[in-house]
Amino acid sequence: MGEARGSGATLIVGSTGFIGRFVTEASLALRVPTYVLRRPGSADPAKEASFRSLELKGAVIVQGSADDKQLIIKILKEKNIEVVISVIGGRNLADQFSLIEAIQSTGTVRRFLPSEFGNDVDRANPVEPGSRVYEEKREIRKAIEAAGVPFTYICCNSIASWPFYDQYHHSEAFPPLDKLAIYGDGDMKAYFVTGPDIGKFTIKAAHDIHTLNKTVHFRPNCNFLSMNELGDLWEKRIGRTLPRVTIPESALLAAAAENKIPESFVASFIHDVFFRGCHLSFSIDGRRDVEVSQLYPDVPFQTIEDWLEGCSAYYLNAVNSTEEKLSYKERSVEKLN
Ligand SMILES: NC(=O)c1ccc[n+]([C@@H]2O[C@H](COP(=O)([O-])OP(=O)(O)OC[C@H]3O[C@@H](n4cnc5c(N)ncnc54)[C@H](OP(=O)(O)O)[C@@H]3O)[C@@H](O)[C@H]2O)c1
Repeated sequence: MGEARGSGATLIVGSTGFIGRFVTEASLALRVPTYVLRRPGSADPAKEASFRSLELKGAVIVQGSADDKQLIIKILKEKNIEVVISVIGGRNLADQFSLIEAIQSTGTVRRFLPSEFGNDVDRANPVEPGSRVYEEKREIRKAIEAAGVPFTYICCNSIASWPFYDQYHHSEAFPPLDKLAIYGDGDMKAYFVTGPDIGKFTIKAAHDIHTLNKTVHFRPNCNFLSMNELGDLWEKRIGRTLPRVTIPESALLAAAAENKIPESFVASFIHDVFFRGCHLSFSIDGRRDVEVSQLYPDVPFQTIEDWLEGCSAYYLNAVNSTEEKLSYKERSVEKLN
């Protein structure tokens, strides 16, 4: 990994977020000098604990907000930052415009990774309200390229999870134990990547000359699965067969049309993946595309089987303890009646 020159000092914006924590943990694990931006004003104890834990692992906390251009310029200069990774959440994507201006103004950052971490926004086209997020991400791409900022776009596809359409961060919910909700005929395939692998391959790509000004697609063959196949693997793991309930396309479109934040966004993305097939509806042989398992053929991906094994181990423990069983049920979704 790594371009030969420089220290690789990396500033991560959004390190306490859902995807950001995987990226930051990976940066620290790969021994990259890691600075994390902390927005002033948050007294959330969970975030406080998260910053403390990152600090103990070697992260340097710097105070500031991505939309404070002058302060970001100061940080980039003082800390000799070479790589900036933004993992800002959907609500604050526009704050990246100031970040891009700051990076352009200093001229010393050799790579910027904007907050993408999903499907390829120039090729996928979800229904509303998801399309709004994609439009914003496309505008950010345009601003980066117009400013001449060196970039890498991470299109990691879906995070490993049972893809509940009515859960925001569905990878934090356990796979179901009562019934398997299957989208349509359940045969549309998608790519799944565990959170730690999203982090690990993002950091490798961020410091790799081969990904300069490219879109990096995460398409691990081992994790290319339909919902029916995902259901089969989960049933095998827990040693039980579960009833399968078909969720029709109209149900996802109706959930998206409700325009609830954030559930309707998730419904529109899940619809795009499992009905429109946005992970496989285009080839990635363009001159600006790279596929991560071809780039790092010797670095394995965690398989979905392994990930499900972790979930089922928790489940098997849970069935021996009423308290934990309740906790499992709270974390799995049982509201699809
Ligand atoms: N592939 C997938 O399955 C998947 C799943 C989820 C998300 N994503 C994508 O991943 C990206 C991150 O989303 P997320 O859900 O992880 O976000 P998130 O959990 O909402 O976290 C956002 C982070 O950004 C920070 N932040 C926001 N505005 C900031 C600013 N102006 N300056 C500094 N920090 C700021 C927040 O800090 P505070 O603590 O100060 O609020 C928080 O740490 C998005 O592009 C999203 O679309 C992909």
